Amino acid sequence: MRDMRSDFPILSRQQNGQEIVYLDNAATTQKPEAVIDAISNYYRMHNANVHRAAHRLAEEATALLEEARQLTQSFIGAERVEEIIFTRGATEAINLVTQILDGRLNAGDQILLTELEHHSNIVPWQMLAKRCGASIEAVKVTPDGELDIADFYQKLSSKTKIFSCNHVSNALGTVNPVTELVQAARSAGAITLVDGAQATLHQHLDMQALGCDFYTFSGHKMYAPTGIGVLYGRAELLETLPPWHGGGEMIEQVTMTTSTYQKAPYKFEAGTPNICGAVGLGAAIKYLRQLPINDLVADENRILAETIGEMQDLPNIQLIGTPKNRSAVISFVVNGAHHHDVGTLLNEQGVAVRTGHHCAMPLMQALQIPGTVRASFSLYNTKADADRFIAALQKTITFL
Ligand SMILES: Cc1ncc(COP(=O)(O)O)c(C=O)c1O
Repeated sequence: MRDMRSDFPILSRQQNGQEIVYLDNAATTQKPEAVIDAISNYYRMHNANVHRAAHRLAEEATALLEEARQLTQSFIGAERVEEIIFTRGATEAINLVTQILDGRLNAGDQILLTELEHHSNIVPWQMLAKRCGASIEAVKVTPDGELDIADFYQKLSSKTKIFSCNHVSNALGTVNPVTELVQAARSAGAITLVDGAQATLHQHLDMQALGCDFYTFSGHKMYAPTGIGVLYGRAELLETLPPWHGGGEMIEQVTMTTSTYQKAPYKFEAGTPNICGAVGLGAAIKYLRQLPINDLVADENRILAETIGEMQDLPNIQLIGTPKNRSAVISFVVNGAHHHDVGTLLNEQGVAVRTGHHCAMPLMQALQIPGTVRASFSLYNTKADADRFIAALQKTITFL
């Protein structure tokens, strides 16, 4: 299997005399040389503002931005390039959707979410619900950390105007059956959003097969820089929706009292976009394209399963969530120890994990725990990383 690690300069950084084992990929991934070079090259060779001036650099910057849009379109299997809207990240993409749907909901309507959501797929909907008098319902999570599908069908009704859920849970790694859920929700007349922030590196994405109205994700969780994200929106729906931010780039005609707007995606991209971020996202997609992704994902799943097996042999470990379909994340607690203490002791041995509620407080409330330790893997993590994690965990348990 190809060693991806050498593509990522930061992975050879030392901490206390040994390489860092980076298992905080659900928070953000590291960046390959190809992305770092693309960003540097953009500023060295092509920087200008886009869609405006009639000069060479502006043409090049515009071409690079639009190339990134096309690469994103093909990466997620969207039918049309106009369906790709650049945002700052998944959070901004979901906020965008909740703002442009403002006029579509009325008092008494229901917004259906799930207990597995990240705060960014809860709080913006709460704000929308408050503005329009809609109510929020959440599909229950089972003790195994899976969505309770019977509860979904029980809560879905003609009152459900929105259904929004994540593709993969950042807190537990649960892969949700989004194709089935989206199809059912759309049949019930709901607008559907899938939060793909944790899915882009580990799941095959095909918007046309998935059939959702909106799909959101962040570049930084797939080897691209921070500050760039994507909102995919179904073209026919986008055409009927109003803009959210006003300003330059998104207009056709402006008088002192009124304006007309561009079509999607520009209608939703007011102001100078994050051009260099989009270039970095394009470079990350090109980098991913030349990797044997299916083999790498299979390898990652094998390492994950072996690591879980080894953890089950350790004393005092309680896995949080044992979903049948899991991707890249292991959440756990060490009985009798605070999750922060476990994280601190792992860090002292050069193993980077995350601890806490993982921006999923309602999930923690449902599972009746304050937080977990989360080890989250990416395609560059090796069995040697997993072995160092297990060895460090063993020492941590003995120490505690
Ligand atoms: C499932 C999920 N949704 C949304 C987000 C928000 O992403 P961002 O902070 O990049 O906007 C995250 C980030 O961890 C996430 O894991």
